[in-house]
Amino acid sequence: MDIPPQVDPEIIDYYSETFDEATRLSATADGRLELVRTQELLRRHLPAAPAAVLDVGGGPGAHAAWLAEDGYAVHVIDPVARHIDQARAIPGVTAELGDARHLPAGDGVYDAVLVLGPLYHLLDRADRLQALSEAKRLARPGGLVAAAAINRYASLFEHTATTWLERERVHDAVRDILATGRHDPGRKGFTAAYFHTGPELAEELRTAGLADVTVYGVEGPTWSLLKAAEQHTGESLVDSPMFGAALAAARLAEPYPDLLAAGSHLLAVARA
Ligand SMILES: C[S@@+](CC[C@H](N)C(=O)[O-])C[C@H]1O[C@@H](n2cnc3c(N)ncnc32)[C@H](O)[C@@H]1O
Repeated sequence: MDIPPQVDPEIIDYYSETFDEATRLSATADGRLELVRTQELLRRHLPAAPAAVLDVGGGPGAHAAWLAEDGYAVHVIDPVARHIDQARAIPGVTAELGDARHLPAGDGVYDAVLVLGPLYHLLDRADRLQALSEAKRLARPGGLVAAAAINRYASLFEHTATTWLERERVHDAVRDILATGRHDPGRKGFTAAYFHTGPELAEELRTAGLADVTVYGVEGPTWSLLKAAEQHTGESLVDSPMFGAALAAARLAEPYPDLLAAGSHLLAVARA
């Protein structure tokens, strides 16, 4: 019998009780940078609206909302009931509970499949490959598959910006992420998570059978300066000159793969 995979309860608890994912991309300047850059990169690769988009791990629907406004028919799948309720409240968006490794739809029914989050939370390569294979299966032949990852080196920059790197617990967690890519279950601050290098993300998409893979840096190499400035001044830098400069830097950095290592998120786009 085909037994659906179980999402780790730590992940469900984190997004249900501890962390408000609904404001992550609007409350801070680095969150806003992630939203604006993800939007502009996806708009470059999406088929023209109207088209059917599956947003796997779509959370409360931050991306589903603007995709629906752009004219796409968006369906969100996420394992967190709170997220499903929030996504369903967005006009034009449908949503259901589910797991990226075992998607509830037939082959080739979507023009584009987004996997912006599940790969962070799948520690085992076999699980990540299964999630990517499912995305490929549900996309029509030649359709877009886009997958996000957290950059392997992002925690070093983030915890320097916040100065938390001085805490022994954080220092040791960052050391282990740099060495292994893993933030193991039970460690504080975030759920169990996997952090990719750019070449590793590209390799996983290719191994899952996807073609024409390109990996972009989302926030560019100066996101952690923006985060540090916002955190230490206590002022919102959303729409500030510093935000504008960080956005310009992300665009300038795009053609230079070496600079992927300084970013926060990676976005891979490919064809099914
Ligand atoms: C950081 S949030 C990203 C949300 C949104 N896609 C975005 O990019 O802003 C990660 C999301 O992945 C979801 N997730 C975690 N494990 C998953 C799995 N196995 N299958 C599908 N989604 C999963 C979480 O519930 C959460 O909504």
